[in-house]
Amino acid sequence: MLKLDAVGRQFGSLWAIRDVSFTVEAGEIVGIIGPNGAGKSTLFNLIAGAVVPTTGAIRFLDRTIDYGKPYHVARCGLARTFQIPKPFKQLSVRENVMLSALRRHHTPRQANSVAMAIMEFIRIGELAEASVASLTVGQLKKLELARALATEPVLLLLDEVMAGLTPPEIKDMMTVIASLPRRGVTVVWVEHVMMAIMNVAERIVVIHQGQVIAQGKPADVSKDPAVVGAYLGEKYAYAAR
Ligand SMILES: Nc1ncnc2c1ncn2[C@@H]1O[C@H](COP(=O)(O)OP(=O)(O)O)[C@@H](O)[C@H]1O
Ligand SMILES: [Mg+2]
Repeated sequence: MLKLDAVGRQFGSLWAIRDVSFTVEAGEIVGIIGPNGAGKSTLFNLIAGAVVPTTGAIRFLDRTIDYGKPYHVARCGLARTFQIPKPFKQLSVRENVMLSALRRHHTPRQANSVAMAIMEFIRIGELAEASVASLTVGQLKKLELARALATEPVLLLLDEVMAGLTPPEIKDMMTVIASLPRRGVTVVWVEHVMMAIMNVAERIVVIHQGQVIAQGKPADVSKDPAVVGAYLGEKYAYAAR
C-alpha cells in the first residue's frame, strides 16, 4: 500500500525527517508515536504529497507520489485528518460530509446518501442538521474523520484524533478505527493517547528527532529502552499488562 524509502525533509538547517523507511501493507493499522516536534506531522505532509521530500522516495499503490500535488494523491485514494479540524462553518454537519462525498459521487442525492451512511457509522447521525459552531471538541474530531472517510479512501492518515476527547469518546473512536480495515481502509495513525494506539494499532513506528528509533508490535516497542528513554518514560505501564 505504502512504501517509504530513505525519506528525508530539510527545513533550513533542520532535518525534520531523516532517512525514514517503512512499509504499510493493505489492511494494516500502523501507529506512529514520538515526542512533540519529532516530525510526525511532517511525515504525514510528505505522504499526502503536501510537502516535497529533500531525499528518498515514497510509493503509494506502487506509484511514486506526485510530490507537491496533494489533490493528485487524494484522487488515488488517500485521505487525512488534521490535528486542528477546520470544517466549513457556514454549513451543517451533513453538508460538510456531503462535500467530501462529492469527490466521487457527482449528484447531490448520491453524495447525501454516502454522507448519511458515514455519519451513522461514526455515530454522529443525530447531528446531521446541527451547525458546526455547536459541536464539542469530540464531535468536531468525529466530523473531521467523517469528512476524510466520505472521500472513500483506501489509505487514511489520522493525526491525533483522540486529543481533547473524553474517556467514553476515546473508547467510541477506538471501536471506529479498529473497524476501518474491514471496510477496506488501511490506517496510518499518529497519536499521543497511548492506551488507544497501543491497543488498536497492530504495529508501531517510533519517531524521535526525525528518525525511526524502533518499530514493531506495541508490546515489544513499549519495552524498548530507546523508546522508554525518548518518549514513553518509566511510568508507562503497558508492558506490565
Ligand atoms: N514548514 C516548516 N518550516 C520550518 N520548520 C518546520 C516546518 N514544518 C515543521 N517544521 C519543524 O520540523 C520539526 C517537526 O515538526 P512536526 O512534523 O510538526 O512534529 P510533530 O508533528 O512530531 O510534533 C519541528 O522542529 C518543526 O518546527
Ligand atoms: Mg504533529
